[in-house]
Amino acid sequence: MKLRNPAALALLLLSAATPAAALELHPERSSPYDLAVTGRLAGVPDGGTAYVRWPDLRALPSARLTVDGEFMMGPQVLTVVSLSDLWTALPTGPGTDSILATCADGYASVYTLAFIADYRPFIVLEINGKGPRDWPPAGVTFNPGPYAILVSADFEPRVASYPNVQHKKPWGVTTLEVASYADRFRGFYSGKWSSLSQAAAAGREAWVNTCASCHAGPPGAFGGTKAGRPFPVIAAYAGYDRAFFMKYVRDPKSLVPCAKMEPHPRYTDGELSGLIEFITEGQQ
Ligand code: HEC
Repeated sequence: MKLRNPAALALLLLSAATPAAALELHPERSSPYDLAVTGRLAGVPDGGTAYVRWPDLRALPSARLTVDGEFMMGPQVLTVVSLSDLWTALPTGPGTDSILATCADGYASVYTLAFIADYRPFIVLEINGKGPRDWPPAGVTFNPGPYAILVSADFEPRVASYPNVQHKKPWGVTTLEVASYADRFRGFYSGKWSSLSQAAAAGREAWVNTCASCHAGPPGAFGGTKAGRPFPVIAAYAGYDRAFFMKYVRDPKSLVPCAKMEPHPRYTDGELSGLIEFITEGQQ
């Protein structure tokens, strides 16, 4: 993604200075382009869902960015709202520090406030001036709607050194949960998981920021439902045959030609050992 227009940056700085308006939460869905919000939000009962309307999101402080090759070949102009401005506009409850995004196909992405501050993810409201009602935009072969979230190295240079970028760019996002990280991942920090070696703790970080996009953990550990494989099955693979597990994570199709899981070739042996140590530790 390329920031072609230096004015865009100035606009962003300007928008950061403007206080965000409070978003209105509606109890009923009004259109397929509403964004569902759930979790710990003032005025939303436990386990309940409220809806934010696209025009209200569009009225938040926004920026226009010219990017290259993100949704389609060549340049495209995105109208975006930063997750940090979105956070400010939501009636977040006490103790909350994370946004958990989920997609229509069960894919999920985790954004802690620390991640949001460091890498400045944003939600895409328009592509070339058109909102989700008119998506897929011309030249795009998939429908990224109703919402897509992106991070970009050209928008925030630190993104260039962030290893799990693909997992922070979900599209087809339908729901944002406002959550406490400690609460939604408590399963990974209690019992056998309460004291981990440094390598295994790094494995836990890797799991939360990559595997959890598609695999849910045991109860008390949030994750996507796209993979449809219970955590004990993953742990059985990790504990039973390390070589198979490592090869599968790096390149599933090399072992199972019809595998749908995406390859994760970047992991070193050391990182995969930490991941295995973390996954199997909780089962002992
Ligand atoms: C984009 C979604 C996605 C991500 C991300 C993902 N997986 Fe998977 N995974 C799947 C799906 C789907 C399957 C079911 C088999 C298949 O189609 O590949 C699967 C299967 C597996 C299996 C084999 C279990 C079986 O029953 O076949 C293992 C082991 C595994 N995943 C581990 C991991 C680990 C570890 C990570 C993180 C590094 C990870 N996966 C990330 C989607 C994903």
